[in-house]
Amino acid sequence: MADSTAASTADSHGHDSHGGHPADPSKRDMLELMASAGAAIFGASIVWPLVASMNPAADVLALSSVEVDLTPIQPGQGIVVSWQGKPIFVRHRTPEEIKSAKDVKLNELNDPQADAARVKAGHDEWLVLIGICTHLGCIPLGNKPADVRGEFGGYFCPCHGSVYDTSGRIRRGPAPKNLDVPQYAFVTDSKIKIG
Ligand code: FES
Repeated sequence: MADSTAASTADSHGHDSHGGHPADPSKRDMLELMASAGAAIFGASIVWPLVASMNPAADVLALSSVEVDLTPIQPGQGIVVSWQGKPIFVRHRTPEEIKSAKDVKLNELNDPQADAARVKAGHDEWLVLIGICTHLGCIPLGNKPADVRGEFGGYFCPCHGSVYDTSGRIRRGPAPKNLDVPQYAFVTDSKIKIG
């Protein structure tokens, strides 16, 4: 924008048809001043986002960790919160879901991992996952009551049919890995801090 303004102003100040400098030295000086000012402004507009992108913005810093109050989430319900731009699934598992997750033999799993390694000791009713399918990155279904959750009762990715169980482990379909568990900790029995 600054460049085009300088250029159009320069034309109105007497560039010849071949783009040469005007004969009047004062006009030429003015043009050069405006051109360099335009370049400086243009340069500044390029550099600023680069510099800004190197320093985490305040809102990004603010989201480097997120606290979630678990109190309103009833057994059998799941919510999605955003953490560092990622969807985080927080599910209050029912006793049946916990049992189903624990009863699976590791040799039945594509990415063998015990349920106990995916939840916090003493809080195994809570499942916290990064809700990004490990196949090609879609967001699986399974948090809303009406969602299809697949034959293992966990999450279903409709993009190519990956099915996850009640521990977020891949059980069927093209996804190669379990849903990731983010870094998180219990701040109190009813509050977690993600990140
Ligand atoms: S992205 Fe989920 S199955 Fe392909």
